[in-house]
Amino acid sequence: MKVIMHSSISLDGSLLGFEVDMAAHYRIAGSYKADIHLIGSNTAIEGLKLFSVRIPKEQEKDFIKPKRDRKLPLWVIPDTAGKLKGKLHALRRFDLCRDIVILTGNSTPKGYLRYLTERNYDWHYMGNQPFYYSHVLELLAKEYGARTILTDTGKTLNGILLNSGLVDEISLLVHPLIVGKKPFPLFDDVRADVELSLKKSKSLGKGRLWLVYKVIRPGKTGK
Ligand SMILES: NC(=O)c1ccc[n+]([C@@H]2O[C@H](COP(=O)([O-])OP(=O)(O)OC[C@H]3O[C@@H](n4cnc5c(N)ncnc54)[C@H](OP(=O)(O)O)[C@@H]3O)[C@@H](O)[C@H]2O)c1
Repeated sequence: MKVIMHSSISLDGSLLGFEVDMAAHYRIAGSYKADIHLIGSNTAIEGLKLFSVRIPKEQEKDFIKPKRDRKLPLWVIPDTAGKLKGKLHALRRFDLCRDIVILTGNSTPKGYLRYLTERNYDWHYMGNQPFYYSHVLELLAKEYGARTILTDTGKTLNGILLNSGLVDEISLLVHPLIVGKKPFPLFDDVRADVELSLKKSKSLGKGRLWLVYKVIRPGKTGK
């Protein structure tokens, strides 16, 4: 199993506060041909705001698992609080995902579990929170045969994965600007040094750089 953390950042390491080149971001993401995209619940909500003006009304077809190409990635979202209740069909309708899978925990509202079950979403109870992401990876390998997992998430979930020593590779699309005030630093939550070796450095034009680092010594501090 390989875990790739993929992010678009400013030169000063911010995830927000500038215009991400979405076409390049998702072209690189797609090039990994990952079985699973691991997406933070906050990222999913922000993504919906970005791509759909408003949440469409649910229809009968939204209760059925989509039949799509097996090569498409599953979008796996930890959403223990049920933030995506009433919104998931808008994500499921994206034809770049095979389907949505939700990770729940001990505090997940029963109404959200009912919502997921009624709509035929796979959901997995990961136990007491905060849960172990090593267990999540084991589950995804066992249930879905996952071999490559790509993160499309913010600093919180990426930080958890780095602190757990679970990231194998870091892919950064660096944009040529400094956010300065109000940055949202990708590595803000990382608590121990992570040693890297440069695997790829490619200019994508217009000052953008794609950097790929291999993690050679993870800065494991916890779960
Ligand atoms: N520039 C880029 O490349 C890029 C890429 C992705 C996202 N973003 C931006 O990043 C922002 C969101 O980032 P974010 O850091 O706020 O959130 P996030 O990483 O999107 O979401 C946090 C995730 O971590 C989980 N989590 C939190 N604490 C946990 C714990 N202790 N144990 C296990 N799981 C835990 C949450 O699950 P629960 O919901 O269950 O708590 C949630 O799914 C958005 O504005 C988005 O647009 C930028």
